Amino acid sequence: MNIAIFASGGGSNLRAILNAILQKKLSGRICLVVSNNSKAGALEIARSHQIPAYHRSQLQYPSEDTFAAELLKLLEEHDVELVVLAGYMKKVPSMIVQRYRNRILNIHPALLPSFGGKGMYGARVHEAVIRNGAKVSGATVHIVDDEYDHGPIVLQKRVEVVHDDTPETLAAKVLKIEHEIYPQAIKAFVEGRVKIEGRTVVIEPGT
Ligand code: GRF
Repeated sequence: MNIAIFASGGGSNLRAILNAILQKKLSGRICLVVSNNSKAGALEIARSHQIPAYHRSQLQYPSEDTFAAELLKLLEEHDVELVVLAGYMKKVPSMIVQRYRNRILNIHPALLPSFGGKGMYGARVHEAVIRNGAKVSGATVHIVDDEYDHGPIVLQKRVEVVHDDTPETLAAKVLKIEHEIYPQAIKAFVEGRVKIEGRTVVIEPGT
């Protein structure tokens, strides 16, 4: 399955997915990496693995539609079948969400629907978890729809929040979980084991 990665930052999730493929734990193929940030580490990782890497930002285009048309052109040129947002901080244009309905994934560093939504990303998420005295947090892989962090939940894994956790220590524990569950969720899609009924996602057991 041809996978496109959208990323904005260092690309640790991209690296985890790439490693799963290189270790033959995941039989997909990353055929395209796009970032809104020309300095994103994710673009460097792509280039070092000879993966087509593009800087495309809404700021370069006169409208969301022209930006969306450019993204769509890239996705079609590379025969993309699954879009994976890996630390991507921008909203996916609705034209893309429609065309790739139920085929765009995102990972959020909390247990949705808690601690999600517009503006809830990075350290802000972990600060809110600690400020609210939550005893568990974790990571969520979900389908992308037209609202931030709102689509049907595909996979979650939790982590304990301990009394002396800081946003930094919690972020590190959650990021480790992200690197575990994202390849697992993508593997289920690649193997056709994901059934989506409304807002309920069922993953059939695999090997
Ligand atoms: C991290 O905060 C992660 O929780 C979220 O995006 C940020 C960067 O991810 N998914 P990455 O290291 O660029 O994959």
